[in-house]
Amino acid sequence: MQRARSTLPRVYVTRRVPPEGLKILNESGQVQYELWDSDDPVPRQELLKRVKGVDGLLCVLTEKIDAELLDAAGPNLRVLSTMSVGYDHLSLDELKKRGIRVGYTPDVLTDAVAELTVALLLTTSRRLIEATHEAKTGGWGTWRTMWLCGYELANSTVGILGLGRIGVAIAERLKPFKVKKFIYTDVEPRAELASMIQAEYVSMEELAKQSDFLAVCCALTPETQGICNMKLFSKMKNTAVFINTSRGGVVNQEDLAEALSSGQIAAAGLDVTTPEPLPTDHPLFKLKNCVILPHIASASYSTRNAMSSLAANNLLAGLKGEPMPKELKL
Ligand code: DGY
Repeated sequence: MQRARSTLPRVYVTRRVPPEGLKILNESGQVQYELWDSDDPVPRQELLKRVKGVDGLLCVLTEKIDAELLDAAGPNLRVLSTMSVGYDHLSLDELKKRGIRVGYTPDVLTDAVAELTVALLLTTSRRLIEATHEAKTGGWGTWRTMWLCGYELANSTVGILGLGRIGVAIAERLKPFKVKKFIYTDVEPRAELASMIQAEYVSMEELAKQSDFLAVCCALTPETQGICNMKLFSKMKNTAVFINTSRGGVVNQEDLAEALSSGQIAAAGLDVTTPEPLPTDHPLFKLKNCVILPHIASASYSTRNAMSSLAANNLLAGLKGEPMPKELKL
């Protein structure tokens, strides 16, 4: 726990965030903050107690910021800064109603997320997890003509569901693999972003039908909740590979498990699930054609430090009443 002069605005930091962010708070001399100094989430009851009377809150994506929490914090709270690009854990209506400004951390994680998405796509399509398992458990016999064959990017069509900065960054990285065509869908065409990767706007149905690889990059909102369901999977090619590095909630996991086990689609790579962590006995873990990572897309040292710095700078700017480096429009 760090304390400065008691007249300074009070801030609660809900997790041990990477050091660069804490350094910024310490050196600012602008706030007194209390830190939940742990890698694990602060228990909800503790959080409700700790936020009482704070002026600012710096949180991560595991904290549900809803009416209950905002009521517990009380009327002093004027700035919320989340160390994440995703904001589905925030009740935006409640924040807006109370006039609380919100900072988040887009852009700084784009490269790390795009890089991991490509790694997950290749791991899934070229069956790397199965292959290393076979190699070390005696399954590696003689060289066989069709053993562990997968799908290649060359000459493929890559579909992007939700075209934003991350989708563009993924496509830019995939292009050198000789992808034939990029297509995307979104609520409306994103001409400027699409022109950066020569991507064609198509309907959701065409996205499903044409994609050899389908990467989900959209935010989780009431509109996107569960949109990757059997309706989508049933239109996809049997050879298609489905990749999700956005939020688990956009996928109907029962439908995905069914699509994977029936051979409706070839494989899936997921960095995000519902819930997180996904219970180890979940049916998706039993499928060889499903690769599951524990939400690590932004987990590089430099990116996590950049996220924590940006979250700290958003918070400080907000508390001073200045424009935040990255403020969410409510
Ligand atoms: C975010 O910032 O929302 C990401 O999911 C973290 O990797």
